[in-house]
Amino acid sequence: MPFIRETILTTAGSDGTVHIAPLGIIEDGEGWIIAPFHPSRTLENLRETGVAVANYTDEAKIFAGCLTGRRDWPLVAVEGCAVPRLEAALAHDVLAVVRVEEDTTRPRFHCRVAASGQHRPFQGMNRAKAAVLEAAILVSRLHMLPAAKIEDEIAYLKIAVDKTAGPDEQQAFYWLLEKVIEHLAILEDAADGA
Ligand SMILES: Cc1cc2nc3c(=O)[nH]c(=O)nc-3n(C[C@H](O)[C@H](O)[C@H](O)COP(=O)(O)O)c2cc1C
Repeated sequence: MPFIRETILTTAGSDGTVHIAPLGIIEDGEGWIIAPFHPSRTLENLRETGVAVANYTDEAKIFAGCLTGRRDWPLVAVEGCAVPRLEAALAHDVLAVVRVEEDTTRPRFHCRVAASGQHRPFQGMNRAKAAVLEAAILVSRLHMLPAAKIEDEIAYLKIAVDKTAGPDEQQAFYWLLEKVIEHLAILEDAADGA
């Protein structure tokens, strides 16, 4: 399996509207592959402008926020690039699309690193941040998973949050939990109606 780095991608459409979304970028030699599933604003923006900024951040609230309708995070201009980076980025890479492998489900945008920046020190690993990242991925896949699997995973991830979270990670996990509870209620209603 290739190495995947979980990032917040910033992209922009041809009208300059910026879009923020979590995506895992796939290591590809010196470059990275961005692989968005259809339909996706990120995908459309990559086609329109051919550039993305990969923001490397450990802010759990940004990952959880993007999955729960909170996409308005502070941005900072990147010199020589039409797409801004997250203010919260510890570091970033500007990714320029060099080739697209077309696919009806999940095209692959092969990118080279056109520029990079370092902004803040990394403060170390934290289990709650990692648990929020996993919970965010879970929320992005709710429609594919049975209720029992969702309940088991959330119960397990909650242990790390309860033991090691600060207020930001607690808030982030709560946003995701709300989404999970809403989804499980819909599944339950559907089962009751069947
Ligand atoms: C950590 C993480 C990694 C993700 N990686 C991908 C990915 O590689 N491809 C993808 O299509 N969606 C991925 N998702 C889900 C997207 O963030 C989500 O579907 C997003 O809204 C993409 O659609 P958009 O470009 O229209 O915003 C990921 C979510 C998380 C939390």
